Amino acid sequence: MITLVRGFKDILPADTALWQHVEAMVRELLEDFGFAELRIPILEQTDLFARSIGTSTDIVEKEMYTFTDRSGDSLTLRPEATASVVRAYIEHGLYAKNPVCKLYTTGPMFRRERPQKGRYRQFYQINAEVFGLHDPRADAELILVLMTCMGRLELPGIVLHINSLGCPECRSKFKGALKPFLTGKVHELCSNCLRRRDKNPMRIFDCKVPTCKKAMLDAPSILDYLCETCQSHFETVKRSLDRFQIPYQINHRLVRGLDYYTRTTFEVLAQALGAQDAVAGGGRYDGLVKALGGPDQPAVGFAIGVDRLMELLAARAQSFEKRPHLFIAALGLRARDTAFQWVQDFRIQRVRAEMDFENRSLKSQMRRADKLGVSYTLIVGDRELDDGAVVFRNMTTKEQENVPVQDLVELVVLGLHFSRMRAPRDKFFCSYFLVSGVLFGVGCQVSGVRCKKH
Ligand code: HAM
Repeated sequence: MITLVRGFKDILPADTALWQHVEAMVRELLEDFGFAELRIPILEQTDLFARSIGTSTDIVEKEMYTFTDRSGDSLTLRPEATASVVRAYIEHGLYAKNPVCKLYTTGPMFRRERPQKGRYRQFYQINAEVFGLHDPRADAELILVLMTCMGRLELPGIVLHINSLGCPECRSKFKGALKPFLTGKVHELCSNCLRRRDKNPMRIFDCKVPTCKKAMLDAPSILDYLCETCQSHFETVKRSLDRFQIPYQINHRLVRGLDYYTRTTFEVLAQALGAQDAVAGGGRYDGLVKALGGPDQPAVGFAIGVDRLMELLAARAQSFEKRPHLFIAALGLRARDTAFQWVQDFRIQRVRAEMDFENRSLKSQMRRADKLGVSYTLIVGDRELDDGAVVFRNMTTKEQENVPVQDLVELVVLGLHFSRMRAPRDKFFCSYFLVSGVLFGVGCQVSGVRCKKH
């Protein structure tokens, strides 16, 4: 049997309803904050990622899925979306259309990391990027979007870490202080970090090897090397977060795994996730648009790791499962034929309906209705068709009523009108049914259906 490629996964029907719910919620939130969707390809020229993410990052050094296509071009499956968004922003001159451009994009990313819980070789991100704003309030606004999203999902145990990586001048001064510190630590650093010590010493803060982590505990802090402008930028970000009452922790070791960041960086961590605890990350990258051949436009953005978000929400997956609403149990040849027509009519009218194609006993059909978790069942046999009324059973209360065969679909749809089953288990579920129950009652009265009880 051919199985999944290591590090890749299927997202099964039992989980997709939750994915759809989360994606729709984030999409709506981003659009409320003025973001428009951009769809970008999965494949880009390798150079795009090498030049933007940085040649001495783990991603570019060892995690990219790169191949030479038949025309000899080096192509790479995108390991992240920011580089592609910037490419599209420049290529289509989006900066000329609007001085402030807010874009979001969603989809799979590919990194050949060592697979483990929360770390996949294909994973999904929701990215939000803002171009054209130097103002630190743009950073804070973006963090507000991110934290509102986390809040709406009621994620447990979430912590926001923030830092400032300053501008190239701050960083050059900081590296000047970091190098002698690292010289004193050469015996504690892994071979990777030793190699990076001269080329890109700040990468060492991001190393996950325990001895390197320990060695960096008393490293100098970038925050002590910020120039006045970067310092003031960071202060305004913090003040704005305070104003929004967003709690945060300052983490001067937060350098992120990509080299394009300037000034503000941030990550959202969830302890419950274990080793791979970052649910989202982002920051400002003021030099990237220019470095990739565009105008000198500032930018700031974030990406949410959807797979990790789902892991935190897994316990709630069942409550988002989309179940059919109505089951038609049909007995007899004519009844099954009529039910077949009704099922299609219900579906066309946006009522999720199911029936059995096989000619099974009423008992086994009712068992299937139970298993499907439907709210209502229509029971119809050839005799009911002759009598002109079928049984409508509420599967929760077990109450039954007769509904006339004539105009049956319209009548039932009228009764269920307010429970269109888009989100059957959301907060309004109960009120939907209260209203739909009343409407159904009214519908029965109007069309003269006699309830068994009266
Ligand atoms: P990143 O921190 O590399 O940032 O990724 C963002 C999120 O994607 C992480 O916090 C994590 O939740 C998820 N993620 C990353 N790698 C994996 C993996 N192997 N398996 C599962 N989930 C993963 C970026 O990608 C930047 N482009 C974010 C950004 C946007 N910065 C500015 N704009």
